[in-house]
Amino acid sequence: MKSQLIREKICSSAQDTIDLAKELKEVFKSGDCITLNGNLGAGKTFFVKCFGRLFDIDDVKSPTFTLVNNYHIGPVHIQHLDFYRINDIKELEGIGINEILAADAISFIEWGSLFPAVLPDSYYSIEIEHSDDLRKFKVCKNEN
Ligand SMILES: Nc1ncnc2c1ncn2[C@@H]1O[C@H](COP(=O)(O)OP(=O)(O)OP(=O)(O)O)[C@@H](O)[C@H]1O
Ligand SMILES: [Mg+2]
Repeated sequence: MKSQLIREKICSSAQDTIDLAKELKEVFKSGDCITLNGNLGAGKTFFVKCFGRLFDIDDVKSPTFTLVNNYHIGPVHIQHLDFYRINDIKELEGIGINEILAADAISFIEWGSLFPAVLPDSYYSIEIEHSDDLRKFKVCKNEN
C-alpha cells in the first residue's frame, strides 16, 4: 500500500472546514472513493455536509442507520456511506458494496478503514483528529 499525503490542515472553526471542503472539491471527482476516519464526533458527517453544500445539497444527514444515502444534483451524484454498524464483511457484500462503489459518483465512507478489503485499489482517506475545538485533517491518496 502506497500512501501520499496531499493536504494537512488544522481547523479551528466551521468556516475552516468549509474552506477545506472547497479546496477538496477541486480534487475529488466522480468515481472517487473517500474514507473518513476518526473518533465518534470527530466531524466526519460535518465534513460531508460542508462538501454537499458546495453542490447545493442542504440535507446531508448521517448514514449511520441507513448505511447509504444518495444525493443527485443535476449530473452530480454523491453517495454517503457509514461502516460503523457493519459487523461482518458479508453484510457489505449483501448490500452489493462492489456495485455501489463502482458507481459514477463521489463516494464518501465514514469509518471506511474498518473494512479495507472492499475499498477500490485507489482511494482517498481523510483522517480527523479531534481535541477540544481543534480538528486536524489529514488527506491522503492511497494505492494498493
Ligand atoms: N469542523 C467543525 N467545526 C465545528 N463543529 C463541528 C465540526 N465538525 C463537527 N462539528 C460538530 O461536532 C458534532 C459531531 O460531528 P459529526 O456528527 O460530524 O461527527 P462524526 O465524526 O460524523 O461522528 P460519528 O462517528 O458519530 O458519525 C456535530 O454537532 C457537529 O456539528
Ligand atoms: Mg457521522
